[in-house]
Amino acid sequence: MIVAGVMSGTSADGINVAMVRLPRFKLLGQTEYAYPKTVRAAVLRAMNAEAISVAELARLNFLLGELYADAVLATEKKFGLRAKLIGCHGQTLYHQGEAAKFLGYRVATTWQTGEGAVMAARTRRPVVSDFRPADMAAGGKGAPLVPYFDYFFYRHARIGRVLQNIGGIANLTAIPAGAALDQLMAFDTGPGNMVIDALTERLFGRRFDRDGRFAAQGRVLEPVVKRVLRERFFRQKPPKTAGREEFGREFAQRFLRRCGRAAIPDVIASATALTSRSIADAIRRFLPRGKFQEMVVAGGGAKNRTLMAMLEAETRELGMKLRTSDEFGLPASAKEAAAFALLAYETWQQRPANVPSATGAGRAAILGKISYA
Ligand SMILES: Nc1ncnc2c1ncn2[C@@H]1O[C@H](COP(=O)(O)OP(=O)(O)O)[C@@H](O)[C@H]1O
Ligand SMILES: [Mg+2]
Repeated sequence: MIVAGVMSGTSADGINVAMVRLPRFKLLGQTEYAYPKTVRAAVLRAMNAEAISVAELARLNFLLGELYADAVLATEKKFGLRAKLIGCHGQTLYHQGEAAKFLGYRVATTWQTGEGAVMAARTRRPVVSDFRPADMAAGGKGAPLVPYFDYFFYRHARIGRVLQNIGGIANLTAIPAGAALDQLMAFDTGPGNMVIDALTERLFGRRFDRDGRFAAQGRVLEPVVKRVLRERFFRQKPPKTAGREEFGREFAQRFLRRCGRAAIPDVIASATALTSRSIADAIRRFLPRGKFQEMVVAGGGAKNRTLMAMLEAETRELGMKLRTSDEFGLPASAKEAAAFALLAYETWQQRPANVPSATGAGRAAILGKISYA
């Protein structure tokens, strides 16, 4: 069965589509579409609820449904394929994995937008969307959901692997050699590209540091990086999740202030080092020693050469080999889209696909909602 997976991450950069054959996994094709500028601006506004109206949010939900459908249809055309089923993560507008007081009750919540019914109508295929609420309703944090795919695709009988995704946020899945599904550990390690992006935009007027070129021209401000790594999020024990709430604009502002009068490339180099250092630190602090021999990187951050060089140095020190998802036949930018194809497939078979040890859920849950064509 061919399944199309559609992913839009916290970077709000656009839409990744992966065409996948299942149950014996094979990636058949993948594409990436940037959001139109105006749409990206609206998505970023929507993540900052004070700046947008309910009417706009409702419209954005339907509009994204249209854009996701277009992305799937264009991908199918490009590769001459036709999916039987579509799995769409949608765009996270808000995620609060921990319950907090609200109107005298305790409430946790998550919200992904991009209307499944619109996608189903346009593509005339069933669509699974809105994956996270079922895990939260079962007592989980609703994230991370990719570990199910990581286990399916990367587990190894004799090699312990850390799957490191570097999107807007960076998160890892640790799979010891020969582990059972309930022996995984998975959590967010901190910022991925989000702080680098914010500072590159602010200081250079570019959306991101292409290939890590600006960072390559700078020197890391060690005291700044060390200081920031002492902040609460990095010390907090997993499970833990982060988003724009933790590492968005305000965090970038603070980081910039800490850099004082440093040269601009030094600021970008330091933000890049913060990502690589926080990943290595998380492994040192929270994973059992000596159990992991490889780190496999996916996500847009794998294209940042300076970041990858820094990670190479960190992993060498940890006694791990650094690899990229591409070496496994899965391009770094397609992994999460492929993951949501697999999750949709499981839902279609009425099988659970959350990993309770990763999300903290009290039980396995069938994820998502189905819109029929
Ligand atoms: N050629 C590149 N060089 C450096 N960074 C890149 C490159 N391509 C993509 N990126 C980074 O990857 C980010 C997008 O990664 P992605 O995995 O899509 O994240 P998300 O899941 O948060 O959307 C971009 O915002 C950018 O920071
Ligand atoms: Mg993206």
